[in-house]
Amino acid sequence: MLERLEELERQALTELEGITDEAGLNAWRVKYLGRSAELGVILAGLRELSKEDRPAVGRRANEVKLNLESTLQTRVEALRVAALERSLQEERLDVSLPGRKPILGRIHPANQTLRQIYNIWAEMGFQIYLSREVETDDFNFGLLNMPEHHPARDMWDTFHTTATGVLLRTHTSPGQIHVMRERAPEPIRVILPGMCYRYEQSSTRAEIQFNQVEGLAVGHHITFADLKGTLNAFARRMFGEHVRTRFRAAHFPFTEPSAEMDIECFICEGKGCSVCRRSGWLEILGCGMVHPIVLRNGGYDPTVFTGFAFGMGPERITMLKHGIDDIRYFWGNDLRFLEQF
Ligand code: DAH
Repeated sequence: MLERLEELERQALTELEGITDEAGLNAWRVKYLGRSAELGVILAGLRELSKEDRPAVGRRANEVKLNLESTLQTRVEALRVAALERSLQEERLDVSLPGRKPILGRIHPANQTLRQIYNIWAEMGFQIYLSREVETDDFNFGLLNMPEHHPARDMWDTFHTTATGVLLRTHTSPGQIHVMRERAPEPIRVILPGMCYRYEQSSTRAEIQFNQVEGLAVGHHITFADLKGTLNAFARRMFGEHVRTRFRAAHFPFTEPSAEMDIECFICEGKGCSVCRRSGWLEILGCGMVHPIVLRNGGYDPTVFTGFAFGMGPERITMLKHGIDDIRYFWGNDLRFLEQF
């Protein structure tokens, strides 16, 4: 019996050495230390042994059991440490490496220009008035002195909706009527920024969507001199103290008289270059004195009130400022373009 115990111990310990995973350890535990393992059977059958054999076999059997248990414990621990070391090796982390910079969003170039425009007009006492992008034919054209079949409507190629008389605004000018009807007969000083839509073949100079900033001032003694002075003040703040401007006669149905304002080309300083198309001047906005019919449509008596209005394109101004040669970059979502601002 004692020999059997020696053999059992040797066999168990040799087998344990070769085990490298948890499943193997569990199987080994059942095989040598479990209830029906040989060692267990020997311990359970001690009382059946003769008086002379019992103490020696009992002592030895218990020694073997303790030895197996503690060797198992050591082995379990050794495997755990080995596994930890392996994972530390494999998933090596260098905590001294600098972190990866998160990609920061930035303000879209058109919005940068818009914010600059807002600030300048805010300093001059103009509030921001937001008006709808989906408009009726009446507000986009009729009330702005372009009745049905008026030839000037051709200047604005229009996206119509499936609902008759409902369209996407082609300019911010219909907001003039909304704000006048809301404020009449109080004096008005507002700018109306927002997205406009045109059913056009897109090209380097034309897009189907773009921003405009409309301006409107209505009061008792507003003259064309106020229009020029105010727009000149704007141009100086926007393009620099020494910018030269000029007003050219133009035509818009909703203003009379109408004009377009140019600034001297800041690229060639008026000498003529490709950006100003050799003219030395850059057109930046349309403007004029609010037409009496438009004032009346807004609820103001044109014999008592006068006003001026203007409309400019922030994308166009941004293109001029940064020498951008294709307006389609603005809504093309190309990060290589956007990240330059
Ligand atoms: N609405 C015009 C356009 O889209 C721009 C414009 C011109 C606005 C003259 C005005 C104005 O308020 O007085 O081309």
